[in-house]
Amino acid sequence: MIPRMELYIDTANIDEIREAAALGVLDGVTTNPTLIAREGVAFHERMAEICDIVAGPVSAEVVALDHDGMIAEADELLKIANNIVIKLPCTFDGVKACKTLSDRGVRVNMTLCFQPLQALMVAKAGAFLVSPFIGRIDDIGGDGMDLIQQIRTIYDNYGFETKVLAASIRHPLHLVQCALVGADVVTVPMKVIKQQMSHPLTDKGLEGFLADWNARKE
Ligand code: G3P
Repeated sequence: MIPRMELYIDTANIDEIREAAALGVLDGVTTNPTLIAREGVAFHERMAEICDIVAGPVSAEVVALDHDGMIAEADELLKIANNIVIKLPCTFDGVKACKTLSDRGVRVNMTLCFQPLQALMVAKAGAFLVSPFIGRIDDIGGDGMDLIQQIRTIYDNYGFETKVLAASIRHPLHLVQCALVGADVVTVPMKVIKQQMSHPLTDKGLEGFLADWNARKE
């Protein structure tokens, strides 16, 4: 199969998800506890609504910090729909829970990844996705794209199948750079999805075409 970059939307807002799905090129959705809290809605009900709209992977994050608590929450989340992906933190217990769930055939998204060794460990534990947060690294003066590049190289060196999901995307340049270094998936806020298809010269060109069209003589 020819590899292609997948596009997810990073939100728990139903209107945004519907609007992005209508584009016809949306592959999945990521949520996190902050995005759910922002909506002021019941967690499981909202995840069910999202899974009704998008057939691709929909990440739902646990809030437990220990292995057994993570597995218990995951088991409840997995009852919602068969496209639910369990999102776990890149911690010691998170890796353990990733291995437990992956061995059962559950797809896991390992989140809050900030260094390549976390990505290596979660790939060994069978993660379906790893989520390096590039914007948050840039925010503190680092280079988030370096992390994507390092993970890409490590995964390619050893043939790991875990997909690199670039998260914490702040602007269109992040997307260009992700495509150049070969991120498998990008999860993007609605604002940036819209910015991707916007250019002043496109607007100016259209304005000129329409002005000429309306002034034509037949
Ligand atoms: O959903 C995870 C990630 O994309 C969060 O992004 O903007 O809160 O750093 P941000």
